Amino acid sequence: MAHGGRRVTGLPLAILISGRGSNMEALIAACAEPDFPAKIAVVISNRPDAAGLGRAEAAGIPVRVIDHTGFDDRESFEAELDEAIRTSGAELVCLAGFMRLLTADFVNGWRNRLVNIHPSLLPAFKGLHTHDRAIEAGVRITGCTVHFVRPEMDDGPVIIQAAVPVLPGDTADELAARVLEQEHRIYPEAVRLIALGKVRVRGKGVQIDDDAPAEGALVNPSVP
Ligand code: GRF
Repeated sequence: MAHGGRRVTGLPLAILISGRGSNMEALIAACAEPDFPAKIAVVISNRPDAAGLGRAEAAGIPVRVIDHTGFDDRESFEAELDEAIRTSGAELVCLAGFMRLLTADFVNGWRNRLVNIHPSLLPAFKGLHTHDRAIEAGVRITGCTVHFVRPEMDDGPVIIQAAVPVLPGDTADELAARVLEQEHRIYPEAVRLIALGKVRVRGKGVQIDDDAPAEGALVNPSVP
């Protein structure tokens, strides 16, 4: 059911950002679709200057700034973060360019209810500067991953991935733009599958009910 352009039913999400917020915007757009099974309860930024904050506000979404620099330690910052998420009623937390490492306590408190998007085909290229490193490594295919978060950085059961070619002469920015386009497709799809209750963690991976597996292969260079 839509109300004033925002869904009032569906799995409530908290989206955590630190910057631009284009993945947040993709989730906002998805949640505005009448049949999408999730809604955004709150957008939280640890940086008061995050560009995404204005975009969330413009969409009529409640926003909170919890500036990590105002806290003595990681634990007190996370206690405030945890409180804000719980107060919002969110049941799934989506990290979307959130640039703070989270402690094991926080991550374990949201186990299997905390997801992240990372701009590589995990477990390749964990950490920062993934596109520079993909180009430097000479790989011909890279991509992006949505995964459940575990205490180790960029680790956890993979929910969905998209692969894109690395093209001759690509700069990191060009490659980032190609990957980002796919991020904006797979993050809403991961949230949709979770919100429909179709995603179950099984061992190191997930099982998806009514899985619609991809067909074919991305080959780069293409085979004639
Ligand atoms: C994205 O590339 C995401 O994969 C990574 O940080 C970037 C955030 O971009 N975790 P945006 O703020 O969503 O535009």
